[in-house]
Amino acid sequence: METPFLEDLEDYKLKEYDWTILKRLYKYAKPYTRKLVLSLFFLLTASIGELSLPYITKLAIDKYIVTGQFHNFWHIILLYLAALLIIFIASYYQSYTVQLTGQYIMYDMRVNIFRHIQYLPVKFFNRTPVGKIMTRVTNDIEVINELFTAGVLTIIGDVFILAGILIAMFLLNSYLASIVILILPLIFLTSFLFRKNVRETYNRVRFWLSKMNSFLQESISGISIIQIFNAERQNFNRFDELNNEYKQANLDSIFYYAIFYPAIELIAAIATALILFFGGINIIKGIITFGVLVAFLQYSYRFFRPISDLTEKYNIVLSAIVASERIFKILDEPEDKQYFGNELLIKKAPLISFQNVSFAYDEKLVLHDISFEVASNQRVALVGPTGSGKTTIVNLLLKFYDNYSGTISIDGCDIRNLSASSVRKIIGVVFQEPFLFSKSLKENLYLGHTEFQEYPMDKIIHDVIGDKFMKRFKNKLDYKIGERGIELSTGERQLIAFARALSVNPLLLILDEATASIDPETEYWIQKRLDSWLASHTSLIIAHRLSTIKHANQIIMLADGRIIEHGTHEKLMKNKSKYYLFCNHFIQTA
Ligand SMILES: Nc1ncnc2c1ncn2[C@@H]1O[C@H](COP(=O)(O)OP(=O)(O)OP(=O)(O)O)[C@@H](O)[C@H]1O
Ligand SMILES: [Mg+2]
Repeated sequence: METPFLEDLEDYKLKEYDWTILKRLYKYAKPYTRKLVLSLFFLLTASIGELSLPYITKLAIDKYIVTGQFHNFWHIILLYLAALLIIFIASYYQSYTVQLTGQYIMYDMRVNIFRHIQYLPVKFFNRTPVGKIMTRVTNDIEVINELFTAGVLTIIGDVFILAGILIAMFLLNSYLASIVILILPLIFLTSFLFRKNVRETYNRVRFWLSKMNSFLQESISGISIIQIFNAERQNFNRFDELNNEYKQANLDSIFYYAIFYPAIELIAAIATALILFFGGINIIKGIITFGVLVAFLQYSYRFFRPISDLTEKYNIVLSAIVASERIFKILDEPEDKQYFGNELLIKKAPLISFQNVSFAYDEKLVLHDISFEVASNQRVALVGPTGSGKTTIVNLLLKFYDNYSGTISIDGCDIRNLSASSVRKIIGVVFQEPFLFSKSLKENLYLGHTEFQEYPMDKIIHDVIGDKFMKRFKNKLDYKIGERGIELSTGERQLIAFARALSVNPLLLILDEATASIDPETEYWIQKRLDSWLASHTSLIIAHRLSTIKHANQIIMLADGRIIEHGTHEKLMKNKSKYYLFCNHFIQTA
């Protein structure tokens, strides 16, 4: 068996009853207090109805059946039917209102989490797997719903019924009632053992389920790689292992459930036998009436069900606490403070400056003392080998990280003091891996626009996507782009991403190998059309093609997170240094 990672296990450690979490959960229920109180009212009404049934039976037996007086017997039958009707109606309303409230609470929680997640810093997503976040927003919230719908209220109902039955039993006959009380320790012991074991298996079920799900998710996403490497068998074996662990955990859990309920039944049967035996003797002695015994049997039958229910409810409460703990952990993640700050108010292409910037994602520095400037309307090319820190520079400028030393400024304003949204508003960016959404072409192009017709898109489409490629989208702006744009070629996706970046009419354009997957001819064609456009914008271009780099006003060459050379293409070529070698040997000259 695989040893679970410590970190994973941490998620599955159950804490004992935690009031602060429940209190926090209550905040979500608070707006619906009236509905919940109403539901509780119906629940208690139904419980009173339940409690009255054995007593009505007693009246029927003692007053009419045993005495043989059937005059007005129909009164008691009507009373019984009325009680049944009240139970039916109250149960219906109780169940309806509580389920309704549960749905409202879940809705609020999902809204809250999603809103919060959107503003979390990139760092959070670097270390949190997607599957984990998905589970929070869906499964965990479902578990909490159970707490509201099947948990808290029914626990109150169960306790109410238990107390009611105890009182009724003592009022009817305290001698028989004490026999039932004597059985209680046995019930408690059984429940305790069940609870303890089931909780442990519950943890394991959750653990292996989550493992299996993540594995499944990864296998499906990477299925073509698995098929190419003929790794199906190996992959299957791993799945089989996980599946087996999951099954085993479930089997253990089934075992405890299978044994618990019959055990409770057995104890209830013993109680019934004792009541019959001692109650019978008392009837013979004339101490109690026949009706009392029948009512007693009914009460004791109803007595054990809430006890076993309560045991299960305890598990619901515990799992809800665990689920809430995880959800609150996400909600407690501080939102990206980069969203706060001054507004950047500029109307023309800005000047960008990096001054002695050093940065590490975790411990290892990936940028060392980077200083450069991009003047207004200038085009600067960043070149350098894989992993040299080009994209990292872009990430910092986009305010994805703030734990760098040195200063980055736009038109002299330190971006640390500016809000991320106002910085991003002036930047159009095309990333190395274009990400498209499963929306229409139009919705992808107008991402972030509040009004679709705000910006004239036709020119951009004509210049960037081009009539040739628009045919691929059947010349329709509402062409439906499949999930992640998987049905499009990478180049086609880049064209859309390119047009999307321009659609915000940015003052600063960042292209991170934006045209790497576009054929040289199309790239040349885009470039020619973009030339006039770029002349009035500041741009930062990362590229591996000489044609793209050559015309830059300045070329910055990076290696291992350091600037090793900078200058114009001509100057650097004349120096015959690293850039020269880089161009001659490695850069695509197309
Ligand atoms: N999210 C991250 N967490 C930790 N390290 C990272 C992260 N992203 C990048 N790195 C590391 O930072 C270094 C610089 O990465 P960066 O993406 O800036 O390189 P690059 O110059 O853009 O390379 P490429 O040409 O391959 O795109 C690399 O060593 C990389 O492993
Ligand atoms: Mg990169």
